[in-house]
Amino acid sequence: MKYRILRFLSFPSVPPRSSGYAEYFSRLPVLETPSLILRPMVMKDAEDIYVYSSDPEVARYVLWEPHRSVRDTRMYIRYIRSLYHNGLPSSWAVVLRETGRVIGSVGFMWVSEENSSAEVGYSLSRQYWNRGYATEALSAVLRSAFSVLPLNRIEAQRDLRNPASGRVMEKCGMHQEGTLRSRIYNKGEFIDVVLCAILRSDWENAVLPG
Ligand SMILES: CC(C)(COP(=O)(O)OP(=O)(O)OC[C@H]1O[C@@H](n2cnc3c(N)ncnc32)[C@H](O)[C@@H]1OP(=O)(O)O)[C@@H](O)C(=O)NCCC(=O)NCCS
Repeated sequence: MKYRILRFLSFPSVPPRSSGYAEYFSRLPVLETPSLILRPMVMKDAEDIYVYSSDPEVARYVLWEPHRSVRDTRMYIRYIRSLYHNGLPSSWAVVLRETGRVIGSVGFMWVSEENSSAEVGYSLSRQYWNRGYATEALSAVLRSAFSVLPLNRIEAQRDLRNPASGRVMEKCGMHQEGTLRSRIYNKGEFIDVVLCAILRSDWENAVLPG
């Protein structure tokens, strides 16, 4: 499988040098929200993750291709776990408290220590869309990152045709900064990308969900 996993609209991951970053990413904290628990992925999550990662609708506006079998999903989890092992930016499994099942993922695409900046991304199982879960998950990640890491700016990018994702960013206090025309070539076409970001000062002054 060609691997461009959960690296939606991202730059190559730059290994963060400071021990603070490496320590954080090697032991991702468990984050709790009213409906969700965000925790590191484990191999046992493969069946749950396959459910949404194999859905072409979920993969429509992200850079990765739908998983063709649970074997692809296991490779993906192995890759994520290698990122944990190496203290590199990676993703949490999003667990629905009510069922204990993994319904999505959220995480960091890259971190630039030089610029004190990072990029986040997220995906959820279609069955659970429009219940506020992505907003809960992203808010928890932003809260944790700004509390623990010396980040000044956290970005997110989305396909212009994906307004639901834009709404999640907006609800989490991210500001829309511009549209980058034909920014990337994905799934056979050039796509326009909307760049959003939240600064530490925005975060400190915002009244946000959760
Ligand atoms: C984008 C995604 C994560 C949103 O997850 P979610 O849990 O449904 O998000 P939330 O429920 O927290 O918020 C969704 C918001 O978008 C709104 N929305 C949904 N569809 C919309 C549309 N077509 N146009 C405008 N707004 C829309 C919802 O009404 C809601 O806003 P509200 O709370 O003001 O009513 C989910 O659709 C998904 O996983 N998509 C596939 C993967 C993906 O595209 N990831 C993002 C890559 S940048």
